[in-house]
Amino acid sequence: MKRRWIFLAAALLLLISCGCSSSGQSSGPSGQQESAASGSAEKKVLVAYFSATGSTRTVAEEIAKDTGGTLFEITPVESYTPDDLSYNNPQSRVSQEHKDPESRDVALMTAEVPDWSRYTTVFVGYPIWWGEAAYPAETFVKANDFSGKTVIPFCTSSSSPIGESGEKLKEDAGTGNWEEGKRFSSGASREEVREWVDSLNLSST
Ligand SMILES: Cc1cc2nc3c(=O)[nH]c(=O)nc-3n(C[C@H](O)[C@H](O)[C@H](O)COP(=O)(O)O)c2cc1C
Repeated sequence: MKRRWIFLAAALLLLISCGCSSSGQSSGPSGQQESAASGSAEKKVLVAYFSATGSTRTVAEEIAKDTGGTLFEITPVESYTPDDLSYNNPQSRVSQEHKDPESRDVALMTAEVPDWSRYTTVFVGYPIWWGEAAYPAETFVKANDFSGKTVIPFCTSSSSPIGESGEKLKEDAGTGNWEEGKRFSSGASREEVREWVDSLNLSST
């Protein structure tokens, strides 16, 4: 009789611990969002991105969902207004930053990622501006130490390829094992992103 009670209590404990460990989407520190994970990549993938008009954000969100990664938005202190982004106007903010490399060191709300050391793979996403990575992404990579991490750039653009933008970020960062990146069109489908993520074989990271 006593043995049966012990057995029942053990079964109950097991049931309770299984219930507690089931995971879904949750918010991490500082508004970071963690997605439901696939495989062992959980909690090791960071998806850092800058997006001025939302296209890169959509791709970043899909990557985070597919990898179980954590999203980190690279946020300039002064966000870019539509006027700021007017590249046909030589007086606009982006035109000025383009002309004067000194002014490209765009101040960010923060470049510090909570629990940075726990990430083994970092995606870095950005729009293409005049064939290069948008300037806030440059500030972000310059501010962080990617030593020991795999870094995978991705971008969105109207038509330009990723070109040398990933290579340039790698130089700016000076650390990390940078992989070949991927360019998506501004309206990339979720399937395209998913296919690319699958091809990366991240479960071994
Ligand atoms: C200042 C500026 C420069 C741009 N330069 C290029 C370019 O050289 N080649 C290109 O294909 N698209 C260019 N675009 C278009 C963006 O790369 C494209 O719309 C991108 O998907 C925007 O991403 P976002 O919505 O995440 O900001 C440029 C856009 C801006 C605002």
